[in-house]
Amino acid sequence: MRAWVALRASSVESRFEALHTTGLTALVGREEETELLLRRWARAKIGEGQVVLLSGEPGIGKSRLTAALMECLGGEPHTRLRYFCSPQHTDSALYPIIGQMERAAGLAHDDKPQARLDKLDAVLAQTATTIQDAALFAEMLSLPNDGRYPTLGLTPEQRRQKTLEALVSQLEALTRQNPVLMIFEDAHWTDPTSLEVFGRVVARIQTLRVLLIMTFRWEFDPPWIGQPHVTALTINRLTQREAGAIIDVVVGNKLLPALCWARAAAFGRHSRRGRGASAGLRPPFHLAPTRPEPATSRASPKAVSGGIRRRDA
Ligand SMILES: Nc1ncnc2c1ncn2[C@@H]1O[C@H](COP(=O)(O)OP(=O)(O)OP(=O)(O)O)[C@@H](O)[C@H]1O
Ligand SMILES: [Mg+2]
Repeated sequence: MRAWVALRASSVESRFEALHTTGLTALVGREEETELLLRRWARAKIGEGQVVLLSGEPGIGKSRLTAALMECLGGEPHTRLRYFCSPQHTDSALYPIIGQMERAAGLAHDDKPQARLDKLDAVLAQTATTIQDAALFAEMLSLPNDGRYPTLGLTPEQRRQKTLEALVSQLEALTRQNPVLMIFEDAHWTDPTSLEVFGRVVARIQTLRVLLIMTFRWEFDPPWIGQPHVTALTINRLTQREAGAIIDVVVGNKLLPALCWARAAAFGRHSRRGRGASAGLRPPFHLAPTRPEPATSRASPKAVSGGIRRRDA
């Protein structure tokens, strides 16, 4: 038997990417939602900053929709800032913001402290960050000051306030170079300090070239609804036809072994018990068992998917 030991957190950017290392299947449906996001982006680009609060049940396709928007904007000059909350770090101050800055600077786990500071300085130089703000960011990333920054002599509360201000200034500087797309994923797992930062961002971006998209499940109650530049977008389950299209893509023309059909049947029984009970894609359909094709037969995609019964959401 082989044994494994966890060494460190993976360098994969997000949960969504970790689950899709071999690429994404084509987006099915969501045309209206994509159009809405593109309209909000168009407004953001002319300096009418926008916030989209994108909510829905687990697995409904929130992250997939943000991936679709990024694909659409692929050729356009813009700066992309992505933040990922984590269920293991709901009490870890500024966790998603620290992660974003570490990735932006390209910090590697085996970098020496000085190399990490050099990389941080290089990325901050692009926005002409003041040395005082650089000192705050270095401290935020738990990097030791090797003498290159001044000692700020602040109380913990003053340091906290200055760090929050520096983060907003950093965003302002970025928007002077390019429009900015900010994606804050899984806000239901945010730590309170990051929430405070994003509260300031929401208040500030009305006149900046920023589109901020926040994804979250229903347990999160965003405090910004009702503001003129804030749009709440709840995504619903796909239609029966769209769900069928995903099944066709996933099953394709593969011959499924008998075990898969048995599992599909089990999934069908499971999914009938209630909403959002299983992990991953929670499609609005259940799979019913059908007779497995003999290994030598050549079932067409339609023949295979024809053995799948669907129900309306
Ligand atoms: N419209 C769609 N077309 C194709 N695939 C989709 C679609 N919606 C969701 N998926 C797929 O379903 C899976 C779950 O979607 P996704 O991760 O975006 O859900 P989520 O709402 O972000 O869930 P969570 O709350 O867990 O973050 C992914 O594999 C995604 O690619
Ligand atoms: Mg997601």
